[in-house]
Amino acid sequence: MIGNLNHVAIAVPDLESAAAQYRGTLGATVSEPLELPEHGVVTIFVRLPNTSIELLHPLGEASPIAKFLERNPAGGVHHICYEVKDIHAAVKRVTADGYRALNPTPKIGAHGKPVVFLHPKDFNGVLVELEEA
Ligand code: CO
Repeated sequence: MIGNLNHVAIAVPDLESAAAQYRGTLGATVSEPLELPEHGVVTIFVRLPNTSIELLHPLGEASPIAKFLERNPAGGVHHICYEVKDIHAAVKRVTADGYRALNPTPKIGAHGKPVVFLHPKDFNGVLVELEEA
Protein backbone atom coordinates (compact mmCIF):
# COMPACT_ATOMS: atom_id res chain seq x y z
CA MET A 1 0.00 0.00 0.00
CA ILE A 2 2.67 2.56 0.94
CA GLY A 3 4.82 3.95 -1.85
CA ASN A 4 7.74 6.35 -1.77
CA LEU A 5 9.17 7.91 1.35
CA ASN A 6 7.89 11.47 0.87
CA HIS A 7 9.84 13.08 3.70
CA VAL A 8 11.43 12.72 7.09
CA ALA A 9 10.51 15.57 9.44
CA ILE A 10 13.04 16.82 11.97
CA ALA A 11 12.04 19.18 14.78
CA VAL A 12 14.76 21.80 15.19
CA PRO A 13 15.30 24.31 18.01
CA ASP A 14 16.88 26.89 15.67
CA LEU A 15 15.43 26.96 12.16
CA GLU A 16 17.93 29.42 10.69
CA SER A 17 20.99 27.56 11.88
CA ALA A 18 19.53 24.21 10.80
CA ALA A 19 18.81 25.64 7.32
CA ALA A 20 22.32 27.10 7.13
CA GLN A 21 23.81 23.75 8.13
CA TYR A 22 21.91 21.84 5.43
CA ARG A 23 22.56 24.51 2.79
CA GLY A 24 26.18 25.18 3.69
CA THR A 25 27.93 22.24 5.30
CA LEU A 26 25.73 19.50 3.83
CA GLY A 27 25.40 21.27 0.46
CA ALA A 28 21.67 20.64 -0.01
CA THR A 29 18.97 22.64 -1.78
CA VAL A 30 16.95 24.34 0.94
CA SER A 31 13.63 26.21 0.55
CA GLU A 32 12.56 29.46 2.16
CA PRO A 33 10.62 29.12 5.45
CA LEU A 34 6.91 28.40 5.02
CA GLU A 35 4.49 29.26 7.83
CA LEU A 36 1.61 26.84 8.38
CA PRO A 37 -0.47 28.42 11.15
CA GLU A 38 -3.14 25.71 11.02
CA HIS A 39 -0.46 23.13 11.89
CA GLY A 40 1.41 25.37 14.34
CA VAL A 41 4.69 25.04 12.45
CA VAL A 42 7.20 26.82 10.27
CA THR A 43 8.80 24.44 7.80
CA ILE A 44 11.83 24.48 5.56
CA PHE A 45 12.16 21.79 2.93
CA VAL A 46 15.49 20.24 2.11
CA ARG A 47 15.27 18.69 -1.35
CA LEU A 48 17.25 15.50 -1.85
CA PRO A 49 17.38 13.50 -5.09
CA ASN A 50 15.16 10.72 -3.73
CA THR A 51 13.15 12.37 -0.93
CA SER A 52 12.87 15.48 1.22
CA ILE A 53 13.75 16.46 4.74
CA GLU A 54 11.28 18.77 6.45
CA LEU A 55 12.79 20.99 9.15
CA LEU A 56 10.02 21.85 11.64
CA HIS A 57 9.94 24.69 14.12
CA PRO A 58 7.08 25.77 16.41
CA LEU A 59 4.74 28.55 15.32
CA GLY A 60 2.40 29.98 17.95
CA GLU A 61 1.59 28.96 21.51
CA ALA A 62 -0.22 25.66 20.99
CA SER A 63 2.31 24.16 18.58
CA PRO A 64 2.72 20.39 18.90
CA ILE A 65 6.37 20.92 17.99
CA ALA A 66 6.93 23.09 21.08
CA LYS A 67 6.02 20.14 23.32
CA PHE A 68 8.26 17.85 21.31
CA LEU A 69 11.20 20.26 21.71
CA GLU A 70 10.57 20.51 25.46
CA ARG A 71 11.14 16.74 25.64
CA ASN A 72 13.93 16.82 23.04
CA PRO A 73 15.73 20.16 23.46
CA ALA A 74 18.41 19.32 20.87
CA GLY A 75 15.71 18.46 18.29
CA GLY A 76 14.97 15.04 16.84
CA VAL A 77 13.17 13.02 14.21
CA HIS A 78 9.50 13.97 14.58
CA HIS A 79 7.76 11.85 11.92
CA ILE A 80 8.20 10.05 8.64
CA CYS A 81 5.83 10.37 5.70
CA TYR A 82 4.89 7.64 3.25
CA GLU A 83 2.97 8.26 0.06
CA VAL A 84 -0.29 6.43 -0.59
CA LYS A 85 -2.46 6.50 -3.71
CA ASP A 86 -5.82 6.75 -1.92
CA ILE A 87 -5.85 8.30 1.55
CA HIS A 88 -9.39 7.16 2.39
CA ALA A 89 -8.64 3.56 1.42
CA ALA A 90 -5.42 3.76 3.45
CA VAL A 91 -7.22 4.95 6.61
CA LYS A 92 -9.83 2.24 6.17
CA ARG A 93 -7.20 -0.46 5.90
CA VAL A 94 -5.15 0.76 8.85
CA THR A 95 -8.12 1.16 11.20
CA ALA A 96 -9.63 -2.17 10.06
CA ASP A 97 -6.44 -3.79 11.33
CA GLY A 98 -6.96 -2.13 14.72
CA TYR A 99 -4.44 0.70 14.42
CA ARG A 100 -5.28 4.25 15.39
CA ALA A 101 -5.33 7.29 13.13
CA LEU A 102 -4.82 10.53 15.07
CA ASN A 103 -7.03 12.32 12.53
CA PRO A 104 -9.22 9.73 10.77
CA THR A 105 -10.56 12.54 8.58
CA PRO A 106 -7.68 13.64 6.32
CA LYS A 107 -6.45 17.22 6.70
CA ILE A 108 -4.46 19.25 4.21
CA GLY A 109 -0.73 18.93 4.87
CA ALA A 110 2.32 21.02 4.10
CA HIS A 111 2.24 20.13 0.41
CA GLY A 112 -1.43 20.98 -0.09
CA LYS A 113 -2.37 17.29 -0.16
CA PRO A 114 -4.54 15.26 2.23
CA VAL A 115 -2.64 13.67 5.11
CA VAL A 116 -3.42 11.40 8.05
CA PHE A 117 -1.19 10.79 11.06
CA LEU A 118 -1.02 7.34 12.68
CA HIS A 119 -0.50 6.76 16.39
CA PRO A 120 3.22 6.35 17.21
CA LYS A 121 2.46 3.71 19.88
CA ASP A 122 0.93 1.55 17.15
CA PHE A 123 3.92 1.95 14.80
CA ASN A 124 7.02 1.07 16.78
CA GLY A 125 7.29 4.44 18.45
CA VAL A 126 7.31 6.39 15.19
CA LEU A 127 4.73 9.00 14.26
CA VAL A 128 3.74 8.04 10.70
CA GLU A 129 2.16 10.45 8.23
CA LEU A 130 0.38 9.11 5.16
CA GLU A 131 0.08 11.55 2.28
CA GLU A 132 -1.99 11.08 -0.83
CA ALA A 133 0.41 11.66 -3.71
CO1 CO B 1 5.17 15.80 7.36
